[in-house]
Amino acid sequence: MKVLAINGSPHVNGNTTAGIELFKEELALYGIELERYDLGLNVIRGCTACGHCVRTKDGFCVFDDDGVNEGIKKISEADGLILGSPVHYSGISGTMKSFLDRAFYAASRAPVNPFRHKVAAAFVCVRRAGGLPAVQSLLHYLTYAEMVLATGSYWPVLYGAASGEVLQDTEGTAVIREIARNMAWIMKNLKDGKEAPPEKQAKQSMNFIR
Ligand SMILES: Cc1cc2nc3c(=O)[nH]c(=O)nc-3n(C[C@H](O)[C@H](O)[C@H](O)COP(=O)(O)O)c2cc1C
Repeated sequence: MKVLAINGSPHVNGNTTAGIELFKEELALYGIELERYDLGLNVIRGCTACGHCVRTKDGFCVFDDDGVNEGIKKISEADGLILGSPVHYSGISGTMKSFLDRAFYAASRAPVNPFRHKVAAAFVCVRRAGGLPAVQSLLHYLTYAEMVLATGSYWPVLYGAASGEVLQDTEGTAVIREIARNMAWIMKNLKDGKEAPPEKQAKQSMNFIR
C-alpha cells in the first residue's frame, strides 16, 4: 500500500518535510510506502473558475502545465493521502491553496470522485500562532471528498520556525506518529474489509438565490 504526501511548503528541506518524514518512518513499520509530492517553488495558478472541469467531468483541470493534474493522478493511484502545509498568516500556504482548490474541485466533478474513501490525514507547521485555522482549512478538502480521516489524540500542529526545529516538539511529533499508526490501521482494515462502500447517490445542489 502507498500513501502520497503533498508538501505545501516552499522549503523542500523545511519543517513540513520533516513532519512528512515522520509519517514515512512510522508507516514503513507497517509496510506502507510514502511518496512525497513537493509543491516547492512551483508557480501554481489559482482556480480561474472557468467551468471546464464541470463541463468535461473528466476529473482534471484545464491547465495541464503546473503539476495539479499530475497531483490528481498521484492521489488517485495512492491508497492514502497526507496534506502538510506551513502556516502562512494563520492559513495554509498560497501555493498549497491553489493546488488544493484546483485538484479537489476538478476531482469532485468526476461522476465518482477518485479521492473518495481513501484514508487521509492533515498537519501543519507553525512558529507560534494560527495552526488550528490552517488545519481546519486542510480538513475542508478532505471532508468534502468523503475521505476517511485518520486522527490522533491532539490536533496536528507541529511547532518550529527554522528548518528542522519541529523535531524538537516532542509532543507534536508523538501526535504525528500516533496519526500515522492510526492511518496504517485504518488502511489495512479497509483493504481487508468485506463490506462494499455505500453507492454514490446523485448529488443534490441547491442555490439560495433563484
Ligand atoms: C509568509 C509567511 C507567513 C507566516 N505566517 C505565520 C503565522 O501566521 N503564524 C506563525 O506562527 N508562523 C508563521 N510563519 C512561520 C512558518 O509557519 C514556520 O516557520 C513554519 O515552521 C515553516 O514551515 P516550512 O519550513 O515547512 O516552510 C510564516 C512564514 C511565512 C514565510
